[in-house]
Amino acid sequence: MNERNLAVIILAAGKGTRMNSKMPKVNHKLAGRPLIGHLLETIQSMSPDQVITVISDEKSDIAKLASDTTIALQNPPLGTGHAAAAALPLLKNNCIQEVLVAFGDTPFLTVETIERMLERLRGPSEPALVVLGFRPPNAMEYGRLVTDESGQLKKIVEARDASTRILEIDLCNAGIMAFDGARFPDLLGAIDNDNETGEYYLTDAVEIARTQGWNCISIETDDPNEVMGINSRADLARAEAILQRKLRSAAMDNGVTLIDPETVWLCSDTEIGQDVTVGPNVWFGPGVVVQRNVEIRPFCHIEGATIEEGAIIGPFARLRPGAQIGHNSHIGNFVEIKKSVLKDKVNANHLSYIGDSFVGSGANIGAGTITCNYNGFSKFQTEIGEGAFIGSNTSLIAPIKIGKGAITGAGSTLSESIPENSLAMTRAKATIKSGWAEEFRLLEGAKVKKTKD
Ligand code: UD1
Ligand code: MG
Repeated sequence: MNERNLAVIILAAGKGTRMNSKMPKVNHKLAGRPLIGHLLETIQSMSPDQVITVISDEKSDIAKLASDTTIALQNPPLGTGHAAAAALPLLKNNCIQEVLVAFGDTPFLTVETIERMLERLRGPSEPALVVLGFRPPNAMEYGRLVTDESGQLKKIVEARDASTRILEIDLCNAGIMAFDGARFPDLLGAIDNDNETGEYYLTDAVEIARTQGWNCISIETDDPNEVMGINSRADLARAEAILQRKLRSAAMDNGVTLIDPETVWLCSDTEIGQDVTVGPNVWFGPGVVVQRNVEIRPFCHIEGATIEEGAIIGPFARLRPGAQIGHNSHIGNFVEIKKSVLKDKVNANHLSYIGDSFVGSGANIGAGTITCNYNGFSKFQTEIGEGAFIGSNTSLIAPIKIGKGAITGAGSTLSESIPENSLAMTRAKATIKSGWAEEFRLLEGAKVKKTKD
């Protein structure tokens, strides 16, 4: 734990130009959660004394996501140095001893690495700042860390301002910097925008500190994935792949069988219990809880749903938000369930839509059953009692209540409530004309023959 007061400044006001999006970059999602949400979770787990999030628009979704942090505004965004300076007036200056600046586009940063940086900041050389470095396989656009003969950090040079000689350096800037709180304001105050892009670079703080005779240190993380910055859609896709691999491994370590792991897509909040088997090509959206011993067969699409112990889902089932599937229930192919509670041992095995419904234990929902829950303006509830048997191809026009143990005849369209243990059906009596089909074929056959002749 941290004994000194720590403030964390998260920079999230950049334009995200390389993302080519109307949406702020840090709001793009990784495993169903906005980029900045991943970093916020890590930072909050350290319980710092203050967290400031720098954004460009106080009405944006990011302001909501970061609502339990102090919001600083930077508009227009004129660079990372300018962004950190926007947070300065909000710092509880008199009690903050350490300041960590992290980037909202760097979602995989770990607490261990932050702790390592802070430890070095407290070291005997009393550095003004500690920079996190890494050696990616392809350094591309990352800033380069320039060190002197003794290994001391001299400066950081942005790739776009770097000479070919500097571009050969493989030690890159991960962007995360830890500052001595007392010297932080002076360093920020001295950053100017005299470079290729006219931006205020936070990275210039290193050279400024050195001219003051202050030490600057860099430490390295040996996992380039931990600090990858997400600047483009291609970066986002790479990060998604990395995170999915981690989530799948964690699920398998927790006792979940993924028959073909590479084809299962998980959300960062997906909870799957022990001895669950997930077939190939299953997609989990946000808010899914799967209890123990559930079987999810191939090609299911599941979001905002709770699946209780022993249930079997799919193949090809769709569970939408608010679906709650009870113990040992079976939801089969081409069944869609929305905002509905299905109690224990309910069977809905084929081709159905169940929306805004309550289904009692042991009820059987026949193939082709539809709850007609929407009249184009409002949604209405369907209640199906315990042990009821809904015949195939029944349309239940909500609001409607099917009593316990009632049976509906196949093909019925029902619009009024059915008492317990009754049979309800709407079915026209079939007209049977014996021999008619044979006569018809003879007659029609003769007509066709005549036109061909
Ligand atoms: C930055 C570093 C680079 C480092 C890389 C690591 C600088 C000048 N460059 O480059 O050395 O290798 O990260 O990923 O620091 N932001 C603001 N306001 C602004 C500009 C940016 O809040 O005016 C935020 C962005 O939203 C983003 C973060 O700061 O979350 C980093 O900005 P970005 O433009 O992605 O910097 P890089 O070019 O990646
Ligand atoms: Mg970046």
